[in-house]
Amino acid sequence: MKSKNEWRTDKEYVSIVADLLAQPAVQKLANYTQHHHSTRLQHSIAVSYDSYKIAKKMHLDYRSTARAGLLHDLFYYDWRTTKFNLGTHAFIHPRVALRNAEKLTPLNKKEKDIILKHMFGATLAVPRYPESLIVSLVDDFEAEHEFFGPLRAKMRRKIKKRRMRTTW
Ligand SMILES: [Fe+2]
Ligand SMILES: [Fe+2]
Repeated sequence: MKSKNEWRTDKEYVSIVADLLAQPAVQKLANYTQHHHSTRLQHSIAVSYDSYKIAKKMHLDYRSTARAGLLHDLFYYDWRTTKFNLGTHAFIHPRVALRNAEKLTPLNKKEKDIILKHMFGATLAVPRYPESLIVSLVDDFEAEHEFFGPLRAKMRRKIKKRRMRTTW
């Protein structure tokens, strides 16, 4: 996303996800930190919107991509502190997210696959649809971007300051 609020001006995107965004179960994601510099809600919207744009450009099912992208991390625990007996966070949370998403809205086969397989790479669950692969790749990209983005900006500012000091 070019800016955090770019999606708000995309009327078609907003109309696709508006009913989901209006749900308290989705808004609650704002209470959880995802990657140090972003909340889980900001992360979910970023993954959803960027995946939607790619799917649209590729003439794929951008509606399912946008909706399932928004719900792909619909879980309510701190993944850095909560540990499970049944498997790793990478394995467990797509299943938790799918169960929670099913309580909010009917999901088609593709939307279920997108949520369940979004950790492809960290888990062996291979995406069945190109839309699932898009969300999985965008998720990786956003995670890196959300973590290092602000750090890079800080470094750029520091380097600029130092340069100015040495110039004068
Ligand atoms: Fe996830
Ligand atoms: Fe994610």
